[in-house]
Amino acid sequence: MDKLVIEGGRRLDGSVTISGAKNACLPILAATLLSDDKSVIRNIPALRDMSTMLKILKNFGVRVQQYGDVVKVEPKGYSKYVAPYELVSTMRASICVLGPLLSKQKKAEVSFPGGCVIGPRPIDIHLKGLTALGAKLKIEKGYIIARAKFLKGTHIYLGGHFGSSVLATDNVMMAATLAKGVTIIENAACEPEVVDLAAFLVKMGAKIKGHGTPRIIIEGVKKLHGAEHSVIPDRIETGTYMLAAAITKGDIMIKNAKLEHLIALADKLTESGLSIKKVPNGIRVKYIKKLKPTDVTTLPFPGFPTDMQAQFMSLMTVTNGISVITEKIYPERFIHISELNRMGANILLEGPCAIIKGVKNLSGAPVMASDLRASAALVLAGLVAEGRTDVHRIYHLDRGYENLEEKLLKLGAKVWREKEK
Ligand code: EPU
Repeated sequence: MDKLVIEGGRRLDGSVTISGAKNACLPILAATLLSDDKSVIRNIPALRDMSTMLKILKNFGVRVQQYGDVVKVEPKGYSKYVAPYELVSTMRASICVLGPLLSKQKKAEVSFPGGCVIGPRPIDIHLKGLTALGAKLKIEKGYIIARAKFLKGTHIYLGGHFGSSVLATDNVMMAATLAKGVTIIENAACEPEVVDLAAFLVKMGAKIKGHGTPRIIIEGVKKLHGAEHSVIPDRIETGTYMLAAAITKGDIMIKNAKLEHLIALADKLTESGLSIKKVPNGIRVKYIKKLKPTDVTTLPFPGFPTDMQAQFMSLMTVTNGISVITEKIYPERFIHISELNRMGANILLEGPCAIIKGVKNLSGAPVMASDLRASAALVLAGLVAEGRTDVHRIYHLDRGYENLEEKLLKLGAKVWREKEK
């Protein structure tokens, strides 16, 4: 197992290029299962989650070839429909094969993804949506067993206790592309990754309208064909480098990035005092004055993303004054607090609210990464901390940040990977 070592205290300066969006690639790769034809997906990041998804596709009998950041998928003749525990347990997003398999093969068996360190992650909304389309579903021996003679378009309200669901919207939208008649999804997730998936499905011949709004309308078609698509840039990776500029008082040109995908984060950082400018094909983020504490509440898109909550908290730990971060998507997604406090932060948890009293300095320490975004938060804290920070268990980071240490090194950070003893 590897750890990441960071010698903190260096200002980051220069440019970084953002990779393809992990959370768009995963459902898009799953969507290739809807056709027999070859599809070509570009801008695929080299991440562990991508390898897992490709293994899942190969396991169904799909032919997959990868050339750098391009993946060719040839599903012709694939007949398997079971996504086994060994593959699904390492990546919750595997659930997004359920909709396409069911729609194309009329049967699917996908291991139950279970909970994870960011709190319980139920799948009732996925099941509700697919049931409404006419699927028969049961849970048996840890698997979701799904069957359907045919799927039939319907009017579905797709919401739960915490609002819309990204992957449930993806699953139901994919399933509805080959259903008979029209499906209307109300309270659909509006995240850019859902919009990118819809764009790919439209290229495959699907009839979809309204993606990017809470009402998506899908008119079922008989068949989908293969398509070529280049995935959108990763907004969470982008946001993480925006925060890297802020926390190190730096100046970073973030290339291949879309500011419109991060409007809530940009709003909060601007309120705090950071300079954020849209430039052609990117964003320039520059520290110009002392940052002010800022309260945030995570919400579905276009609100402040839960996937930026931990990293934003790292910035607030060294911002003079008190800030409150309220987590409304995953109220238990706070494992990073104890690790940040180990580094000298002053954070108190009150239910789903973290109260952060800014301190002058963080001090480097050995810390344990618990999930992907929490790991990124610890790296950001390490960049500003005095002395050496060892971030253990960085396999989480390898799930979601392509070439993290190379990108940080190029920006002037002192960071390297070591084998755990
Ligand atoms: N929820 C339910 N029932 C469901 C589905 C979701 O109650 O059937 C709840 C969840 O527990 C949560 C809320 O609804 O409270 C929203 O969850 P959502 O379904 O939108 O999450 P997801 O689709 O499983 C994706 C991203 C996550 C990101 C969330 C929220 C992918 C592969 N994952 O998950 O990304 O946090 O949306 O934006 O797209 C990450 O990249 O680190 C990550 C965790």
